[in-house]
Amino acid sequence: MPTMRAVQVSRPGGPLELVERPIPEPGPGSVRIQVQACGICHSDVMTTEGQWPGITFPRVPGHEVIGVIDAAGKDVPARWKAGQRVGVGWHAWHCGHCDNCRRGDYFACQTGIQVTGISFDGGYAEYMIAPATSLALVPAELPTADAAPLMCAGVTTFNALRNSGAKPGDLVAVLGVGGLGHLGVQYAAKMGFRTVAIARGKDKEPLARQLGASHYIDSQSADPAAELAKLGGARVVLATVTHGPAMSATVGGLAPRGRLMVLGAAGPMEIDPILLIMGRRSVEGWYSGTSLDSQDTLAFSVQSGVRPMNEVYPLERVAEAYDRMMSGKARFRVVLTTGN
Ligand SMILES: NC(=O)c1ccc[n+]([C@@H]2O[C@H](COP(=O)([O-])OP(=O)(O)OC[C@H]3O[C@@H](n4cnc5c(N)ncnc54)[C@H](OP(=O)(O)O)[C@@H]3O)[C@@H](O)[C@H]2O)c1
Ligand SMILES: [Zn+2]
Repeated sequence: MPTMRAVQVSRPGGPLELVERPIPEPGPGSVRIQVQACGICHSDVMTTEGQWPGITFPRVPGHEVIGVIDAAGKDVPARWKAGQRVGVGWHAWHCGHCDNCRRGDYFACQTGIQVTGISFDGGYAEYMIAPATSLALVPAELPTADAAPLMCAGVTTFNALRNSGAKPGDLVAVLGVGGLGHLGVQYAAKMGFRTVAIARGKDKEPLARQLGASHYIDSQSADPAAELAKLGGARVVLATVTHGPAMSATVGGLAPRGRLMVLGAAGPMEIDPILLIMGRRSVEGWYSGTSLDSQDTLAFSVQSGVRPMNEVYPLERVAEAYDRMMSGKARFRVVLTTGN
């Protein structure tokens, strides 16, 4: 039986293990992808630490996948063919028709939401099986390693910004310049917002400005809310950090009717209700997007020149690559390549 290299976690909190596994066969409605690259997203902690409800082990993480369709199971729509270069992101499937999906609550999909690298094995491997509903066609202009982070970090920030209600010329702040944030800064600037980057320390300032930020706030040496207020108040703060208090510290810098969009899966956050009442400020969570949203993200990135800044590691150095992401030192996304 032909085998492949894959990286699995066998128990919550367990190590990333490079193993040989049989090359899987696609079932109905799914394709097999020969994986070329997979980004390492901070949300992969939900797999490695077993934080997602109902996750089972062993599990292969990875939901920023780019590869080539290699085989198709039965009932796969004819538009998906062997040889096409495709991407797979976090959100792979929800039924769309049950009462909960029709209310927009697809986490509660009655037949079960499918999340890549959680509900089924993801892209830290030479091959993976993906439902056809999760596939985005990758434009020829995008190099493979550049396309990978767009499948989660990209679509999440692009989709949040385009649904944020901000208009060209509005002040939009991106809180956190990491994997998500460095793409958020670029999308915000390309969408025509006056873009503010907020990060800890001074060292990210030149890069943030290079990515399109017209203002930079060092949250360690200044109060981000006061600095945003000086700039007129933000229509939107796109919060990509992994720390709740860092998010709440920006709420006072929102303009009247301004919105804190919470992307980072951070711990608890405390907000003074007075800040919400006065000026009718709001807080809203944002959850990645569908495969069609990913295709829009890829197309916009080609059109506008948005590209991730990547540090590329071969699959076998996954433990080092994952630690690099967790250290917060990566500039800005760590991407695994398989050699395929
Ligand atoms: N909503 C969604 O659909 C969605 C999708 C993807 C990811 N996520 C979540 O988004 C978050 C970011 O993911 P990522 O891949 O961009 O992670 P990342 O590359 O590791 O970046 C982490 C960011 O968090 C900030 N940070 C870390 N520790 C902090 C602290 N103690 N105080 C303040 N800021 C801190 C860093 O800020 P500095 O820039 O200041 O160093 C950095 O910008 C994660 O929680 C991830 O699970 C959510
Ligand atoms: Zn992700």
